[in-house]
Amino acid sequence: MSKTTTNTRDILLGATGSIGIVKVPSLILLLHSLNYTITLVLTEKAAWFWHGTHRGSCNAYDPESVRRVRELVSDGTVKVVEARDEWRTLEGDSPTLRSDEPNKNSSASPPLPPKTKGGNFLCPVLHITLRSTHRLLLICPLSANSLAKYSTGLSDDTLSCVVRAWEVKSKPALFCPAMNTAMWDHPITSTQLSTLKGFWEGGVGGCKIVGPKSKLLACGTEGMGALEEVEVIGREVVSFLGKKIITTIDKEEGKVKRKKDMVKALLRKAKEEFQNSKKKGSGGGMEDKVAPISPSSDLVISSVLQEIKLRGGASSVLDLGCGDGRWLTAFCSEFDNCSCVGVEIDEERVEKAKERIRVGGWEGRARIERGSVFEEGNWGGGAEVIVVYLFREAMERIGKMLSGRKCIVVSVGFLVKSWREPDWEKRIGGIRVYLWDNR
Ligand SMILES: Cc1cc2nc3c(=O)[nH]c(=O)nc-3n(C[C@H](O)[C@H](O)[C@H](O)COP(=O)(O)O)c2cc1C
Repeated sequence: MSKTTTNTRDILLGATGSIGIVKVPSLILLLHSLNYTITLVLTEKAAWFWHGTHRGSCNAYDPESVRRVRELVSDGTVKVVEARDEWRTLEGDSPTLRSDEPNKNSSASPPLPPKTKGGNFLCPVLHITLRSTHRLLLICPLSANSLAKYSTGLSDDTLSCVVRAWEVKSKPALFCPAMNTAMWDHPITSTQLSTLKGFWEGGVGGCKIVGPKSKLLACGTEGMGALEEVEVIGREVVSFLGKKIITTIDKEEGKVKRKKDMVKALLRKAKEEFQNSKKKGSGGGMEDKVAPISPSSDLVISSVLQEIKLRGGASSVLDLGCGDGRWLTAFCSEFDNCSCVGVEIDEERVEKAKERIRVGGWEGRARIERGSVFEEGNWGGGAEVIVVYLFREAMERIGKMLSGRKCIVVSVGFLVKSWREPDWEKRIGGIRVYLWDNR
């Protein structure tokens, strides 16, 4: 018996035609050991390095890792997609993700009858499926050619279509360039990298360029351009997706124990924060502190926004214990015309939230009420979505106040015991997020 805690595959690992690809087998093994799920998407040139047995191939560089990755591919743990699969899927109307077998040409098949739904023509599109079903876009290695394509929007194969269609406002990306020093030093590299990074600006997903590093390159040049170390890339992935210590809860004793330990540690941290905030209190309402000090991570927020988007979006939001207002500005940016109210008692945080709203230019749509979350007068009327990030005791109290309201409630960290099972829940970076759709 096993239960997965995430409903999307984690990482879409895109590899392009740089010699740095020889490190990809060991990167896959590292990410697999960290419990992430991986779909590897290869460009045509990357496939040449991946499948070949020539001197520049993955097979020649690291045969042991290649052998272990092959095992993961053949048992379906790791998926491999190549550019040609996009067309192959349609020809055979077969499952979108395939194993690592050589391509079988199916051009001789008779035409398939079109699929329809409610009279509309339906056709599976692999790159759209891929962009929708993964949390993190990791392009490693990123060749000079693919960098040029992604920064200008060119989309002439599966991977570039995925990048072109990526939800830059809500889902993160990591790019790991690797190229010869002369290519790296060319002024167009930094121009294109900053253009690429800019696509994620203002969103909640985030984007990072990792590496390259300086060393003796495969071509014999000593200088910048080598792919960053696999461990460094792994660390960056963890910083975006969080440690996936528990991906499954099963009967295996060790795993269950680890889960309990994690929950205990989280509770301990929450209690410490609570005590500290009490000690810190010197008037100004600090004795009323009911919310953790640590703000929600971008990944928590983007996951929730994604889920709310699937449920039709939001036109009004109330954040009880809004801290620095990051949920409010994220909602403003994600949903046009969404109006937001945040309630916060701590003066310093109220100022921060106001500043964030002002800098983002959201003053017309978001405002902060300084006061207690337990006073409904501060709530600014009804809201379609209510976000709460409060300690357990406060959650129970707020839970009673929210009962019977026709809205979506999002709780970060704590359940309301007396409520039914949440409609959606997800563990992100060690924090569990719950959503009830009571509309
Ligand atoms: C042996 C070999 C090594 C290469 N290494 C790199 C590299 O490290 N970085 C790079 O940008 N291009 C490199 N190239 C050139 C790319 O493969 C070429 O630009 C290709 O068109 C990239 O295609 P893609 O971006 O669609 O994968 C290399 C080519 C060869 C033959």
